[in-house]
Amino acid sequence: MSPIASSSPLPPVRVWDIGVRIFHWSLLVAVSVAAMTGFFGSPDSVAIHLIAGVAIAYLLVFRVIWGFSGSTFARFRTFIFAPSVLIARAKDMLAGRHTRYLGHNPLGGAMVLALMGVLALILMTGTVVLGGILKQGPLAFMTSYATGGLVKEVHQALAFGLVGLVSLHLAGVIYESVVGKEKLVKAMITGNKPAISDVVLPKPAAARPLVALVLLALFSLSGIGIVASLAARPGLGVPVAAVDPLYVKECGSCHFAYHPSMGPAKLWDGIISHLDQHFGEDATLPEATRAAIASYLAANSAEHFDTRISHVLANANPDDPLRFTATRFWTRMHREIPASVFTSKPVGFKGACNACHSDAKAGLFAPQNIDIPEGAFK
Ligand code: HEC
Ligand code: HEC
Repeated sequence: MSPIASSSPLPPVRVWDIGVRIFHWSLLVAVSVAAMTGFFGSPDSVAIHLIAGVAIAYLLVFRVIWGFSGSTFARFRTFIFAPSVLIARAKDMLAGRHTRYLGHNPLGGAMVLALMGVLALILMTGTVVLGGILKQGPLAFMTSYATGGLVKEVHQALAFGLVGLVSLHLAGVIYESVVGKEKLVKAMITGNKPAISDVVLPKPAAARPLVALVLLALFSLSGIGIVASLAARPGLGVPVAAVDPLYVKECGSCHFAYHPSMGPAKLWDGIISHLDQHFGEDATLPEATRAAIASYLAANSAEHFDTRISHVLANANPDDPLRFTATRFWTRMHREIPASVFTSKPVGFKGACNACHSDAKAGLFAPQNIDIPEGAFK
């Protein structure tokens, strides 16, 4: 392709191969879903947030592989520049000088790396949060609730950082489109850009999709294997023993037997010491039974576990200290549920946690296991 007079346009060049384009637009979708569910989601959307996270992880791994096996402009070597080049580019921009690049310009390339780096950090911190707070995923076996809570702050700060980077990225695209008259969005769709006559092009490389596919498959197999075996370990501080049958028999006859990890020792002590006046009922037990249940509850109270439920219900409401349903956390979490749902036939009363939380009996309360029964809305 010889440089001809600028009046006769050069044929377009394939800059972004199909791998780069699919990556770019899929990442946009996955990150948008993760951001929406993360910033504005409720427990309902946790499952979608996690799926978006896994999708982003896959896309990043693919992009790293493609950075070594894609076609010319997909390769990292064509858009990683020395810092001096970045500074020169920034000075050019400030001075209003415009140099065209076929692939990413130096600052654009740095932005790609920054976005990928921050996304990787968000995925890592997210996995710690998932492990510590929800006791799910590959790190649940070793992550405390407190660590999960701290890292959640970092995860959120990184998410805001990502919003900032994405805004800069968009500003860059707008700058290039307006000042440089580049059709960057169109190029990311068609893959083509008008050729440039006076640039030194990087050494061309052919895409190697088969190599990429094999590497991705190997990564998936080993990755899924490792994650699954770690995730199968019991979570740190999660109850594993079955609930005591005597307790279930005596305290599960009027309502479901609340898992002992739901209440701090003080709450259980208050309940078990006043069974004759149990929320307006007489729930008195023979002394031997009462004592056995009292010591079971004391030995398995919230203080002995590290699950979300063992922490969030710990702040009793001084006006009504023996009810989970009177705590600030509980009220906040359930404020959007109409009162009629709680009194409906399939639910009965607020304390019937198991009507909507299918894993309540085991003391888990995972956001993925919430489902208000159909008939409760009639
Ligand atoms: C005779 C029936 C009966 C038995 C037996 C019984 N309870 Fe209850 N329990 C109730 C009633 C009624 C309520 C209040 C329901 C409501 O709010 O309408 C209640 C409420 C509770 C609550 C508060 C739930 C909340 O957050 O609103 C706890 C905790 C509790 N019971 C624990 C126990 C324990 C522990 C035992 C076993 C020692 C037990 N119950 C045995 C009838 C019973
Ligand atoms: C009528 C159904 C219903 C009952 C009964 C109910 N819950 Fe819930 N609970 C929900 C719903 C729905 C949500 C999710 C709220 C949202 O999406 O904002 C929720 C959220 C929660 C959460 C937060 C979950 C998370 O991952 O963020 C906890 C913890 C929880 N409930 C505990 C309890 C306990 C403890 C009880 C019983 C004392 C109880 N719930 C009774 C429907 C119910």
